[in-house]
Amino acid sequence: MPLSRDAVRLSAWDQFARQFVAPSGGQPPYHAQTNALLPTLVALVGRPGRVLDAGCGEGAVSRMLADSGHAVIGVDSSVVQLSLAYAQEQRRPRGIRYQHLSVTDLACFADDSFDAVLSNQVLPSVFDAHAAICEAARVVHPGGRGVFAFLHPSYHVGRPLCSPGSGGLTLPFYNRSLQSYLRSLQNCGWALDALLDWPRCQRPLMVVLAAVRTASSPTTSIPIAGW
Ligand SMILES: C[S@@+](CC[C@H](N)C(=O)[O-])C[C@H]1O[C@@H](n2cnc3c(N)ncnc32)[C@H](O)[C@@H]1O
Repeated sequence: MPLSRDAVRLSAWDQFARQFVAPSGGQPPYHAQTNALLPTLVALVGRPGRVLDAGCGEGAVSRMLADSGHAVIGVDSSVVQLSLAYAQEQRRPRGIRYQHLSVTDLACFADDSFDAVLSNQVLPSVFDAHAAICEAARVVHPGGRGVFAFLHPSYHVGRPLCSPGSGGLTLPFYNRSLQSYLRSLQNCGWALDALLDWPRCQRPLMVVLAAVRTASSPTTSIPIAGW
């Protein structure tokens, strides 16, 4: 049961999704800024191919990828987020497929079955981020790309670990060092291609790790829950 271990923690994302679309809005104040990064993430994915949107939420990134010519499968552990994504797909079909899965267990996808994985604002919410990074490596063929973007670890220094503006909901969040992500990339069969602190001239809000899948096999999962 891929979702059972995280089930309680992840139900917060279902509640958050409901707030997110409520008229009062539950969007964090940095949302417009993080959205400004999305075209860069899509560009880093490279030429059109088969792309997995790992932790697709309500599908904003999946839609942007599809509009750029990619064949997209979005996976998420929140049924509410997925239902929002699916409703958008029904309203304006782009050929995106959505599946209810944890990014830490993508067993229904064969090895090497994607050209790229894009995961935006997901890894710090995942207890076993190492497993997620290894699963992404497994499903992407050697030479394929991985783009992992998330709130910069330094953004949280001195801030509460509950998303501001989320109406008091405590979303699951594990703040980790950049080095722990880099170690996972390396151990899971990714070669770092680019690291972007964004925006460049201010205290960084986001970090983007762009990587290429190497030919070596991923190692087994080692949970990294903390710093
Ligand atoms: C901040 S939202 C980002 C959504 C989307 N990537 C975007 O950029 O709009 C984080 C998403 O990660 C999902 N998520 C958290 N842990 C997950 C897991 N283990 N497997 C799959 N999805 C997960 C949540 O349900 C939520 O939809």
